[in-house]
Amino acid sequence: MTEPIDPTSTTAWSELSAARDAFAPDLRAWFADDPGRVTRMTHTLGDLHVDLSKNLVTDEVLASLVKLAEETGVAERYAAMLGGAHINTSEDRAVLHTALRRPEDVDPALVVDGQNIDSDVHEVLDRLGTFADRVRSGEWRGVTGKKVTHVVNIGIGGSDLGPVMVYEALKPYADAGIDAVFVSNIDPTDLAQKTAALDPETTLFIVASKTFTTLETLTNARLARDWLWAKLAEVGAIGADDASRTDAVAHHFVAVSTALDKVAEFGIDPTNAFGFWDWVGGRYSVDSAIGLSLAIALGPDAFRELLAGFHMVDEHVRTTPLERNVPVLMGLLNVWYTNFLGAQSHAVLPYAQQLHRFAAYLQQLTMESNGKSVRWDGSPVTTDTGEVFWGEPGTNGQHAFYQLIHQGTRLIPADFIAFARPAYPLEDGGRDVHGLFLANFLAQTKALAFGKTAAEVEAEGTTGALIAARTFSGNRPTTSIFGPALTPSVLGQLIALYEHITFTQGTIWGINSFDQWGVELGKQLALQIAPAIEGDADALAAQDASTQALLEYYRAQRP
Ligand code: F6P
Repeated sequence: MTEPIDPTSTTAWSELSAARDAFAPDLRAWFADDPGRVTRMTHTLGDLHVDLSKNLVTDEVLASLVKLAEETGVAERYAAMLGGAHINTSEDRAVLHTALRRPEDVDPALVVDGQNIDSDVHEVLDRLGTFADRVRSGEWRGVTGKKVTHVVNIGIGGSDLGPVMVYEALKPYADAGIDAVFVSNIDPTDLAQKTAALDPETTLFIVASKTFTTLETLTNARLARDWLWAKLAEVGAIGADDASRTDAVAHHFVAVSTALDKVAEFGIDPTNAFGFWDWVGGRYSVDSAIGLSLAIALGPDAFRELLAGFHMVDEHVRTTPLERNVPVLMGLLNVWYTNFLGAQSHAVLPYAQQLHRFAAYLQQLTMESNGKSVRWDGSPVTTDTGEVFWGEPGTNGQHAFYQLIHQGTRLIPADFIAFARPAYPLEDGGRDVHGLFLANFLAQTKALAFGKTAAEVEAEGTTGALIAARTFSGNRPTTSIFGPALTPSVLGQLIALYEHITFTQGTIWGINSFDQWGVELGKQLALQIAPAIEGDADALAAQDASTQALLEYYRAQRP
């Protein structure tokens, strides 16, 4: 893999630094003086209408940002990724989540490291669809012959956040009388609460883990198996003998993993396991077999439509010049805000209740990918990386944290996401409630961009100190992403958009966005501390003073 290019050594960086030093953003004036701004800065991405015009950029700054992408080799690295180069250098792996959504008939087929990626992907996808249909139709039944009504996905991180986010977003498509439930946390509350109302005879567990070694997932899977055995025994459906327990697992447990040998060790029949490959990162895996819960609850057709949406954006990225390449432009804007204008965080504000887990999903995608201090050659990064992503759906956020975005001292670029057509078209006394909802989206982006001057406040009759309190500076940057409706395809487009934004930023910063060594140390230490929790004196003595005191507190308080 080629050496990362230090972005700060590029001509574009010098141009951007100079632009920043003389920068005096004035969205009011820019809009008033430049009637073409909105048209020039609005782009179509698949079905999405993406309006960048309320960002703090001029055409000159945008041109320098595009030059930065050119000088740091964004297009070349994208081509390397698509072609199967091992751009995940620290794990010596290709990065091919984009191959998960390639159509079946692309000629020539993608062959990487001797593997025909296309045929392997579609073989699993077909099995996934067949299995999902069997569960949906009732052909697949529980051990007592009942149809499945609940699928419980047990997974964490990328084996949870994508499926749960997509399920919540596309629940209106769940048409087979099957609900999906998601258990992730090793806090026993999660499993206990989520299984409380379930009927073991109609519950199918999916153990989703890329590695099949993750402590949380394997612990929860064992707890779920115990729950199943105990509950089935309670109703007399099985005995305590090995044969009936094995039979119960065969009817109520399936798995998704890259480690099919470990799946078998757990006791799940390999014929009920769905594989994927080490070239799919956990946080990029919702479109792999990790989406099994979605294929069951929403249906294989909806799942394939989701994948088609992803592919639409992949094709846009692959074929569109950088200056019109929407994910690249959005990634570049994030670099501008982070490295030149001092932003540390980025709000993502969906005006869609169905996207209430979108920010949580994006947190793993963006922060596990780009929260790094070293580049892909091991050298230190040369500039700040990885902004903090956060958000809640509008209008709830408006009544919580928007105050700080409007009038606080920090610069917080925000992406607003909205859809023209609602999933639930309700009326309030003849008034379209979705329209009212969207009026809020439009009002917020307008208020943030253009603010309210002291003169405007005074003209309304406000006097004294209240004038300052009621003044809005404006010039608070937003991007508006507007779609026709939250369909599976549109959601796929949206997710792929953010995957490629993340990729663009990682490339400019010289980061390998596909490893996550930063989560390892905590995992190792938890395993070392666990014996101390159980009272092992040596393990306790090996801890630092603060950890020892916390352990002693715990041991005094525990039930
Ligand atoms: O949090 C670290 C991590 O490795 C994530 O990258 C991953 O999505 C998650 O754990 C779960 O891993 P697995 O799917 O192997 O259980």
